Amino acid sequence: MERNLRFDEYVDRRNTKSLKYDFAAERGATKEALPMWVADMDFKTSSYVIDALKQTAEHGIFGYSERDNSFTEALVDWEKRRHGYDIKPEWIINTPGIVFALATAVKAFTKEGDAVIIQQPVYYPFSEVIVDNDRRLISSDLVLNEETHSYEIDFADFEKKVKEEKVKLFFLCNPHNPTGRVWTKEELIKLGDICVENGVIIVSDEIHRDFVFEGKHIEFTTLKKEYEWQTIVCTSPSKTFNLAGLQISNIYIPNPVLRKKVKYQIAASGYSQVGVMGLVACEAAYRNGDEWLEGVLKYLKENREYLEKRITGEFPKIKLIRQEGTYLSWLDFREYGQSGAELKKRLLTEAGLWFDGGEMFGKTGDGFERVNIACPRKTLEEALNRLKRL
Ligand SMILES: Cc1ncc(COP(=O)(O)O)c(C=O)c1O
Repeated sequence: MERNLRFDEYVDRRNTKSLKYDFAAERGATKEALPMWVADMDFKTSSYVIDALKQTAEHGIFGYSERDNSFTEALVDWEKRRHGYDIKPEWIINTPGIVFALATAVKAFTKEGDAVIIQQPVYYPFSEVIVDNDRRLISSDLVLNEETHSYEIDFADFEKKVKEEKVKLFFLCNPHNPTGRVWTKEELIKLGDICVENGVIIVSDEIHRDFVFEGKHIEFTTLKKEYEWQTIVCTSPSKTFNLAGLQISNIYIPNPVLRKKVKYQIAASGYSQVGVMGLVACEAAYRNGDEWLEGVLKYLKENREYLEKRITGEFPKIKLIRQEGTYLSWLDFREYGQSGAELKKRLLTEAGLWFDGGEMFGKTGDGFERVNIACPRKTLEEALNRLKRL
């Protein structure tokens, strides 16, 4: 039986080596500021995961490990059960995280000076792994529809840039962090066709796919055989079950030629097996975590509604961007007329709030803030009360 369904419970995360709670000074924030930035949740994970980890911990030997048949079976079953997605065991590669997989793809499929395209504002390590590997960062910026408060793709701009810049690789973020979009079938097909026609390899980062509140998450590679052949799918239990610190992700590469190139780069980086705790946690979550996940989804949906109600009712200068997926809300503070740096300072010092400043996600993110709402309602309530000090 699942025991961790009390999402209202406050769990003190201070002094647990938590990036969110224990490194404020190092990261330019204050100890008093309510941390609602990095994307992990303030909820305890499934009791099944904790039990499985305890059993491994009590065994007391933490030697090398590897993905075994039991793990693979749980993963294949999860994909089928939750996403209607048939994956083949030979497609799977494990990496210690998705950002590692993104950087590996850059090295495997492009050379120095090649162009990689992204859609800003987007999760900032997308840019970092491109720039840090001396590749050219090209962004086909998403366009905010000011009436619907939702972001749209400028397909003509995307295609033009793909052709003119001779783009080799595309990082697709679906659901999209931070804009909260869950791309529709039509949007994915338009993007996919442009990539196929121009020989662009796609990395489909689907880390947030279990958090969808409006619309439906579509597995990109199931749309067309050509997409399957040209795509690397990045998935992970880390957001879904709050396991980011255990460093495990599952990457699917149906095309054996692409898979070989990725495996080569992983070996070249000196990385071999993932850690035993990550394997154990992922298997337990995928086998037995459904009830916990349903509980979290219900709770987040209510948090999302609570936030929407209060922002629209009490904060006329702030606009909430429509959040179809993820547990990250994207708030438009542009009416304050301040730069990202000024806004961040005011939020920290006047309101005692530590959000992720929008400018980190690309220049079109300036004036926006990303707020992590995966916390007990009381925390969210407190955050909104503090926001009134601005
Ligand atoms: C879109 C996206 N990809 C990847 C990650 C991080 O993945 P990992 O911790 O597995 O490297 C995040 C975390 O917020 C994310 O939002």
